Amino acid sequence: MTIEQKRVVVTEIPGPRSVALQARKQAAVSAGLGTTLPIYVERAGGGIVVDVDGNQLIDFGSGIAVTTVGNAAPRVVEAVQAQVADFTHTCFMVTPYEEYLAVCEQLNDVTPGAHEKRSALFNSGAEAVENAIKIARYHTGRQAVVAFDHAYHGRTNLTMALTAKSMPYKHGFGPFSGEIYRVPMAYPYRWPTGAERCAEEAFEQFTAMVHAQIGEQDTAAVIVEPIQGEGGFIVPAPGFLAAVATWCAEHGIVFIADEIQSGFCRTGDWFASEHEGVVPDLVTTAKGIAGGLPLAGVTGRAEMMDAVHPGGLGGTYGGNPVACAAALGAIETMRADDLCGRARHIEAVMRPRLEALRQRFDVVGDARGRGAMLAVELVQPGGKEPHPALAARVSTACHREGLITLTAGTFGNVFRFLPPLVIGDDLLLEGLDILDAAFAASV
Ligand SMILES: Cc1ncc(COP(=O)(O)O)c(C=O)c1O
Repeated sequence: MTIEQKRVVVTEIPGPRSVALQARKQAAVSAGLGTTLPIYVERAGGGIVVDVDGNQLIDFGSGIAVTTVGNAAPRVVEAVQAQVADFTHTCFMVTPYEEYLAVCEQLNDVTPGAHEKRSALFNSGAEAVENAIKIARYHTGRQAVVAFDHAYHGRTNLTMALTAKSMPYKHGFGPFSGEIYRVPMAYPYRWPTGAERCAEEAFEQFTAMVHAQIGEQDTAAVIVEPIQGEGGFIVPAPGFLAAVATWCAEHGIVFIADEIQSGFCRTGDWFASEHEGVVPDLVTTAKGIAGGLPLAGVTGRAEMMDAVHPGGLGGTYGGNPVACAAALGAIETMRADDLCGRARHIEAVMRPRLEALRQRFDVVGDARGRGAMLAVELVQPGGKEPHPALAARVSTACHREGLITLTAGTFGNVFRFLPPLVIGDDLLLEGLDILDAAFAASV
């Protein structure tokens, strides 16, 4: 059923039915699962999410960068319906099926680099990251893994160790996996000596720390998000990623790009690494890959991916046929509807508006991002001290008006925008108007 692409607010948000369901949640679901906006969803499509009270909200979150092709995207629905009627599971490691191969072929095709590649499929982003580390360790025979400040790679034990932020992701959940080392990120806005010197100095610190504290010969992999997601949509200073990748190649260290949030057209190219001319050894993907069905991948150089003994990788559900069908429908949509072009268009519409916010309010310290992965960082007046309370106030104001927005950032002070790439311009502009008003009322 198509959903009218129109914002409609008919109750307070959340409305009475959502409030009742949230009470049921508290009685039935672990308190460990938080809720950003407790409206309960009935349907969603395009740029609209419809709740059980009949409100139609504008979606600037895409379920955290997942519904890139929109919710219930027609090609995804069609592919899933056909697949679910044919068969739902055999386990690829027991009796394989063609859909898995087709997804791997697509991944090998769309990820950066023309070298020979192989892929393997998993269920979640964290699982893909875990497997990328397994592959890198196996291939190199080394153990140490380097991750960055502000990194987010998931919530499993190994990926918690790779993730930088304590609360809420790591607090109370240790001990963490060993042989993980953290280095500074080239974060232009907060680089102590200024954005100009950021790439060069961050690279110097990175190489010096790896050399002194780990040893190049003991380092299996460096893992980095080409644009950091949960850490606050930090775009590394230009040239930093390429320098790190080249240095890794010189030392036989596997360069892993975690493109789970930034991949699949989100930044205006298939992968964010491409903006920096970087060809990673391994790429992890998830989120936008399958239009909302759980699927993740590791794609990389054939000699690395093929190094592992048969049976060393896998899992019962990894590359489930229904999720694979969804991915094929989603990727076809991205190609046919030029969603990379749509992401660039969204940036052309949104960026000037975010820049205008920065000019108007001195608490908007930075406006950044690429394509439809954009953010503003909020700071205390007159300085750069993070202002998470303001981010929370602006969020609440947006939510009340029927605009789904997300925050992020190590300090909780980043307002991030991840609209579905199929959102119409009218909704985009209306959402930006709501944001403007929310800032005006909250600052
Ligand atoms: C860059 C990045 N890596 C890994 C993950 C973990 O993915 P998942 O939540 O599917 O395990 C995320 C999720 O937000 C992510 O943004």
